Amino acid sequence: MEALITVLPGDGIGAEVCGAGVQSLERIAEVYGHHFKFSEQLIGGAGIDATGSPFPDETRASCKESNAVMLGAVGGPKWSGPNAAIRPEQGLLALRAELEVFANIRPVQILDELADASPIKADRLRNVDIIVVRELTGGIYFGEKSRTKDSATDLCTYHRYEIERIIRVAAKLASARRNKLCSVDKANVLETSRLWRDVTTSTLANEFPELECEHILVDAAAMHLINQPAAFDVIVTENMFGDILTDEASMLAGSMGMLPSASLGDTSCGLYEPIHGSAPDIAGKGIANPCGMIASVALLLRHSLGLEEEATALEQAIHQTIADGVRTADIAANNGATSTTSEMTSAIIQRLQ
Ligand code: IPM
Ligand code: MN
Repeated sequence: MEALITVLPGDGIGAEVCGAGVQSLERIAEVYGHHFKFSEQLIGGAGIDATGSPFPDETRASCKESNAVMLGAVGGPKWSGPNAAIRPEQGLLALRAELEVFANIRPVQILDELADASPIKADRLRNVDIIVVRELTGGIYFGEKSRTKDSATDLCTYHRYEIERIIRVAAKLASARRNKLCSVDKANVLETSRLWRDVTTSTLANEFPELECEHILVDAAAMHLINQPAAFDVIVTENMFGDILTDEASMLAGSMGMLPSASLGDTSCGLYEPIHGSAPDIAGKGIANPCGMIASVALLLRHSLGLEEEATALEQAIHQTIADGVRTADIAANNGATSTTSEMTSAIIQRLQ
């Protein structure tokens, strides 16, 4: 098949991990006989430096005509002073809104071989297999903001249709798994959460009557994620709670560098990014873990290009590489040998035949 993919390296380690993503797509194309074209564009701080905008028009145009978009990371100390008027993160939020990718899917799977890399005791990690479905284009991230010298406001709004559509995505995923959904909110305090709970309950009753759904408050969910992570299956939640809980959940997998994400809307063009950030402390050193990005490429193959066999092969190649003991520094055992980003990437793509 032919596909056009916009590549947005962004800032910090974004360029290094995007390089790994492109290499794995090139390898897939070679092995399976596809033709992928890449359009590399600016976003975030790189966009601000070159054009004054964190989401330049050219980037927008390229994304709109692509089959999928792959993104590294945005942000960094250079653009984050307390008075910064334009921030790299605004570029990412504008991109998510432009593509209308309201459903951010963040799978949290634990490879047995990495149980030692997690700060959580290995016995708690057995059978952990969670998908967090994070609402991505609403809530406090997109509400009106205001600031005076001595006060500030961030408005959090949710509309019924926004809740209905994300619940449908989560419910479909849950129906194909353990038929179990956990909706996370803060309904004891927030009005948006009370609407969330009502809409979730009625949508499920009308459209997914077989599905078992539990509603949990976000503070309790944060605790249970550490205490009994294997009890979760599909978690659905609003934008900011999903952001926070997935950083927490990444520690189950040993490192933020392992986790991929897919952001999907009503069209097949999705946005694929690892959940880690720009990691300015290690940027340019060639030691970033490429697994989260390469696993995001697998999601791209599956969800935007419909290439299930290729997606599974890439996921197996990552797993096999880890099983064979190849490790970047973030997941290496104490005193264990470490590989660079490009060594780990080569090891993964060599395992694709
Ligand atoms: C993420 C990131 C972003 C978010 C930032 C960079 C805006 O933390 O993708 O999780 O908060 O959504
Ligand atoms: Mn985040």
